Amino acid sequence: MAPSEPGGSVNPVPWAAALLLAVGMEGALALPEICTQCPGGVQNTSRVAVYCENTSALMQARCCLNQKGTILGIDLQNCSLKDPGPKFLQASAAVIIDLQANPLKGGLTNIFRGFTNLQTLILPPDVTCPGGINAWENITSFMDKQICQGQKDLCNSTGSPEMCPENGSCAPEGPGLLQCVCADGFHGYKCMRQGSFSLLMFFGILGSTTLAISILLWGTQRRKAKAS
Ligand SMILES: *[C@@H]1O[C@H](CO)[C@@H](O)[C@H](O)[C@H]1NC(C)=O
Ligand SMILES: *[C@@H]1O[C@H](CO)[C@@H](O)[C@H](O)[C@H]1NC(C)=O
Ligand SMILES: *[C@@H]1O[C@H](CO)[C@@H](O)[C@H](O)[C@H]1NC(C)=O
Ligand SMILES: *[C@@H]1O[C@H](CO)[C@@H](O)[C@H](O)[C@H]1NC(C)=O
Ligand SMILES: *[C@@H]1O[C@H](CO)[C@@H](O)[C@H](O)[C@H]1NC(C)=O
Ligand SMILES: *[C@@H]1O[C@H](CO)[C@@H](O)[C@H](O)[C@H]1NC(C)=O
Repeated sequence: MAPSEPGGSVNPVPWAAALLLAVGMEGALALPEICTQCPGGVQNTSRVAVYCENTSALMQARCCLNQKGTILGIDLQNCSLKDPGPKFLQASAAVIIDLQANPLKGGLTNIFRGFTNLQTLILPPDVTCPGGINAWENITSFMDKQICQGQKDLCNSTGSPEMCPENGSCAPEGPGLLQCVCADGFHGYKCMRQGSFSLLMFFGILGSTTLAISILLWGTQRRKAKAS
């Protein structure tokens, strides 16, 4: 039994609540890094800024954020980007993205993996829309930019549903991408294995492998240290 004095004990609940609130507020104040990595502000003619105003979200640095802090739009015009970089995934819920006036390289399909909400993507004129023409409803070219609009759900186009196995279903995974998700109780190749996948076993294997590698590395480092 933990010792407790009826009069003198401090109720931990308000403290926990205050701490949670503080952490939550800090989370809301901290802007995702992708929003601030490019200097300069967003022009008021930016489509992202206009979209943000219309959805009554808030423009902060390069991003349009909703109340929860989710990035709905991002304007990275004129940021000298050759590729958007790994932090770009922070914007994977975005509806509108502007990347014009950047020296982007082609082959953007994998960069937009998981961007299932994306409806408007503005690119430099010489960069093709990720997923190609079949991934978008409209592609419009201008002198200085190209606009990919209306991401198509490939799972809806004819022929696609049959691509997934019998006990799996099709799910969009970004422009030009889809994945087959096994139904509950199925897993493995073509969703043919029955019984739920043991997550515990998976972590078990992963964990022991990591441990083995760590021990191995520790051993070799020690040997090196001794030799020198
Ligand atoms: C954008 O800013 C310019 C001046 O900086 C101003 O003249 C113009 O009216 C603004 N446009 C909008 C839509 O706010
Ligand atoms: C923004 O909203 C106004 C009116 O609410 C509308 O006229 C305008 O077309 C909208 N613009 C965009 C880009 O959705
Ligand atoms: C791009 O950025 C450079 C410097 O950062 C600035 O001089 C130039 O005016 C910008 N161009 C546009 C189109 O915003
Ligand atoms: C594509 O273009 C057509 C015709 O201009 C238009 O009716 C449609 O709304 C556009 N779709 C999107 C998603 O912008
Ligand atoms: C795709 O199909 C689903 C249901 O089958 C529907 O809810 C969704 O609106 C469709 N999407 C498009 C872009 O047609
Ligand atoms: C799909 O599931 C059903 C039972 O729900 C099973 O009879 C069938 O063999 C499964 N198909 C494949 C390809 O595993």
